[in-house]
Amino acid sequence: MDINSLKVLFTEEEIQNRIKELADEMNNFYRGEEVYSVCVLKGAVMFATDLVKSLNMPVKMEFIRLSSYNGGTTTSGKVNAVDISLPDLNGKNVLIIEDIVDTGLTAKFLLDFMNCNFHTKSTKFCSLLDKKTARVTDVEPDYYGFEVDDKFLIGYGLDYDGYYRNLKFIGYIEKQV
Ligand code: PRP
Repeated sequence: MDINSLKVLFTEEEIQNRIKELADEMNNFYRGEEVYSVCVLKGAVMFATDLVKSLNMPVKMEFIRLSSYNGGTTTSGKVNAVDISLPDLNGKNVLIIEDIVDTGLTAKFLLDFMNCNFHTKSTKFCSLLDKKTARVTDVEPDYYGFEVDDKFLIGYGLDYDGYYRNLKFIGYIEKQV
């Protein structure tokens, strides 16, 4: 991938402003509560760490690792639970944090996993990006930052073959056929 072909979709400022708006909503919803955040590695790492810094309730940060992409620009259609070890979340407020909901297979897998294993006080799903047109499941995030078109997105946690997660902005390349 030629980095120069990357077009900016959301600037660093747009991302950070939207994260603060999402955090404000959450600060209202969780007022007086404690929260377990569950960051889905690797893609959500940037979003999760920036989001929790703007939350004002006590937060315990958990990390799990799921994978569905093949390394390039195509999803395998199968969710691989690389590491899904979590503490006892019974009776807890759980906030799942993702970078993107695409087909929704990862989100569905995770929500089913939570339902099967825990009776939480609440389970909310937050994704920075929501690619609604790519959905093959009926899951919808409770919170999302931006709705996006069906483009291949890179940066701010989203990778191309493992690279470019460190970009402060989100860019896109046209889908490869
Ligand atoms: C990406 C993203 C989500 C998932 C969304 O993860 O971080 O977890 O795909 O796609 P879906 O809605 O079609 O399931 P990926 O498998 O690329 O792993 P990564 O987070 O380590 O990059």
